[in-house]
Amino acid sequence: MEKVVSGIRPTGNLHLGNYFGAVRNFLKMQNDYNCYFFIADYHSLTTHPTPEDLHGNVRQVLAEYLAAGLDPEKSTIYIQSDLPEVAELTLLLNMNAYVGELERTTSFKEKVRKHPDNVNAGLLTYPVLMAADIIIHQANKVPVGKDQEQNLEMTRKFAARFNRIYDKEYFPIPEPFNYGEALVKIPGLDGSGKMGKSEGNGVYLIDEPAVIRKKVMKAVTDTGPTEPNSPVSEPVNNLFTLMSVVSQPETLAFFKEQYSTCSIRYGDLKKQLAEDIIAFNEPMREKIKAIASDEVYLRKVVAMGKEKAHESAAKTVREVREIIGFRSF
Ligand code: TYM
Repeated sequence: MEKVVSGIRPTGNLHLGNYFGAVRNFLKMQNDYNCYFFIADYHSLTTHPTPEDLHGNVRQVLAEYLAAGLDPEKSTIYIQSDLPEVAELTLLLNMNAYVGELERTTSFKEKVRKHPDNVNAGLLTYPVLMAADIIIHQANKVPVGKDQEQNLEMTRKFAARFNRIYDKEYFPIPEPFNYGEALVKIPGLDGSGKMGKSEGNGVYLIDEPAVIRKKVMKAVTDTGPTEPNSPVSEPVNNLFTLMSVVSQPETLAFFKEQYSTCSIRYGDLKKQLAEDIIAFNEPMREKIKAIASDEVYLRKVVAMGKEKAHESAAKTVREVREIIGFRSF
């Protein structure tokens, strides 16, 4: 059976971008593949969280995974730092990852631009750690949103490079994956770009209805179409994109039609969008709270995942050590 690996950084609550870019695929894939879904806590250290925040966020993402429907009986759900093998594989891959190519990645350049005071080595080698996460289980498919495309490209490069250096088809070359074919980018409510935890433009799975209404009603739009069939501006198109994932197709078609005939009222569009997001989140919201406070269950899930993930990771690292030439006497 093909293997699937993906993870989410524990940097706060999950938002609709995380859900529709990643989690939605996880839920379907766990029925069809051998899946490994983890919480990328090593990765989150690049921004130096306090120990309390780190632990709280790991627990939160775990509860959100489970509330969304990830099933520990079907998938291996684990915490990245429970697998020290990942750190070892990262060290080994680092030897053939070049500083120049790491410096050229868009996300590294972006982070240097935004936070010039925190250009740590962990940021530079972030794609190597990510490659280790993925190939440690010999993954074939990686469900991610569009923003992870370049990281995935690096993973493919490092896996192929290892195979070439040691003249062995050892690692499968993993592919980015989304059931809808193209990887998705869910926009934020601020008119441009993607929904992101650090952008402050997101709707979270745990947001209360009143919070969702407030956020959506404040979403950026434009001054409205001035003639029939005029092109849709980016901010309004973003609201249509959000509708396309949470609303009925007829609802979206209705508002698009109103747009093209210049009769649209953005207030109505936003009200409908807010109610549809609320209805979408509803079944998860209460569950997240209940699961997050269920110590016994969380502990059980983490222990189960650690054991299964360890088995697969230890096997890979053992084989990689052998291939590299770390042989026992
Ligand atoms: P992270 O934690 O930023 O995001 C987790 C997942 O959510 C997706 N995502 C989005 N998809 C669509 N639209 C959006 N607005 C949006 N925002 C976030 C991301 O694409 C991702 O799939 N480097 C990764 C974590 C990671 C990982 C891995 C992923 C570490 N190792 C191995 C896959 C495999 C990250 O920072 O994702």
